[in-house]
Amino acid sequence: DSIKVFAPATVANVVCGYDVLGFAIQEPGDEIILKKNDSNQIVITKIEGDNGKLPKDPNKNVVSHVIRLFLEKINSNQGIDIELYKKMPLNSGMGSSAASSVAALVAINELMGKPYTKQELLPLAMEGERIACGNAHADNVAPALLGGLVLVRSYEPLDAIKLPYPKDLSVVSVHPHVDVPTGEARKIIKERISLKSAVQQWGNVAGLVAGFCTGDLDLVSRSMEDVIIEPVRAMLIPNFYEMKQLALDNGAIGFGISGSGPSVFALCEKKETAEEISFKIKELLNQKNIESEAFVTKIN
Ligand code: HSE
Repeated sequence: DSIKVFAPATVANVVCGYDVLGFAIQEPGDEIILKKNDSNQIVITKIEGDNGKLPKDPNKNVVSHVIRLFLEKINSNQGIDIELYKKMPLNSGMGSSAASSVAALVAINELMGKPYTKQELLPLAMEGERIACGNAHADNVAPALLGGLVLVRSYEPLDAIKLPYPKDLSVVSVHPHVDVPTGEARKIIKERISLKSAVQQWGNVAGLVAGFCTGDLDLVSRSMEDVIIEPVRAMLIPNFYEMKQLALDNGAIGFGISGSGPSVFALCEKKETAEEISFKIKELLNQKNIESEAFVTKIN
């Protein structure tokens, strides 16, 4: 009566699709082990890899929170022991809280006889995001749960759709070691935008979706432009525009902030290009005395 589940990191927004587009990557990700216990209690027995930063209090932790919501939904008072292995940085913009919530929900669903489909678990996973950053956005949890590239067409009613994408695209994710909590990075965004910017942005979102669906990488590249969020959030990320220039000069299809930052990502056609960009960005940050870690992986 024990189960182990892995859930992946994700790149939310995919540049122009604020809160509506995201894709899962092969690594990194989080791992969770759940065991039934006889106590009727949800107990966090172990957290590793968080440098002691995550709350072990089951009322405050994202993982125990979504497990509690799940058990309430099926009217169960089953006790659960939780072990969480964080294998990715916290507050990084790589969908760390989403990976934990999704791993927890897939695991508890399996353990309790699989009453729900993955789509049905999505609203619960979004509640994990609410605890983590104050807002139940779905563009990390949906791809972490469903895999690949996902469009959140609507929140009310919730409508998350898996989209086709060209296989084998490589992704570089670089995490500069500065802290940018998602809640803070959401507060600085303007509530009102001009119609001119809106037209540009929805043109790009449509172009990006069309490019992914048809495999037109040139269209994907032209559409990876964000005229609304990036200009505001870029100031939270040291050397953002230098990193962007470096990635685009070295053959990236596109470059942008990963989720709410501080991580950035580049999308590349070839793994070698991704590796070179990863190396060069790390070198640039190193010269500026900013520590970082980088992952070269694929959309998954
Ligand atoms: N869409 C969310 C945001 C993703 O940009 O705030 C957070 O990872």
